Amino acid sequence: METRVTILCDNSISRSGFVGEHGFSCLIERGDKKYLFDTGPGMSLPMNLKTLNMNLEGLERIFISHGHYDHTGGLLRVTEQMDRIEVVAHSAIFSRHMRIDPAAPEKPSRYIGFPASREDLERSGAVFRFIDDTQEAAPGIWFVTGIERDPDKAPKDPRLVVPKENGFVPDPIEDDASLLIETDGPPVLILGCAHSGVQNILEHVREKMGIGRLRAILGGTHLMFYGLKDLPHIMEEFERFSIDLVGVSHCTGFQAAVQLSSHFGDRFSLASAGTIFSFR
Ligand SMILES: [Fe+2]
Ligand SMILES: [Fe+2]
Repeated sequence: METRVTILCDNSISRSGFVGEHGFSCLIERGDKKYLFDTGPGMSLPMNLKTLNMNLEGLERIFISHGHYDHTGGLLRVTEQMDRIEVVAHSAIFSRHMRIDPAAPEKPSRYIGFPASREDLERSGAVFRFIDDTQEAAPGIWFVTGIERDPDKAPKDPRLVVPKENGFVPDPIEDDASLLIETDGPPVLILGCAHSGVQNILEHVREKMGIGRLRAILGGTHLMFYGLKDLPHIMEEFERFSIDLVGVSHCTGFQAAVQLSSHFGDRFSLASAGTIFSFR
């Protein structure tokens, strides 16, 4: 069965006609089924679908990687177009995700979670199915979450916080989730923002799911929040899965993408808006 992954929203675009926007979304087509993974902040999703001459008619299910606005902002507009649609997410998806500037504590904090309320989304047709531990959430599609985190292998971003009592504490973003998609060969891993840490996610895939080979790693790796000295070790981790393709986007960052490109050569691709990956 062919699996096609089309990048609908990314910070960058693959060619003219597409709109770039800070965020991530992709469409997954398997046989005659369509699934949406994330929705970007909202503006680019319908525009890029139009440029691709595609639509969301007959969408089977939506998966959400975590509650940040740059992955969920377009959800209400999608669910409003449907009678009822199942939305698979971790139960902490509506956490009060905030952002502060630790270097300028006088600056006001900013809410960066779901822009729409759960009630509005449900009224519009969203039927939430919360999954807090890795499981198959559609035939051949695994919702990978509840990752055990080694803090040394997780991205460090002191700006991301949640309110507690009179202040803020670091946001664990426990709603972070990825997708693992079966193909005729090794599976494909699609990351939303990889807040759990890409190495922790890979360890989970190996240890908890018994997977030793990956066809591709696609999506937001969050590598821009690691030191450049950490990258060789992370690329070694990728190599342990004998991957054929590293297709990165969103929070990977320019410097990390350059390093990945020089290491993986023709196994590297940007996953910009409008890029289509096909796997059998
Ligand atoms: Fe995020
Ligand atoms: Fe993100």
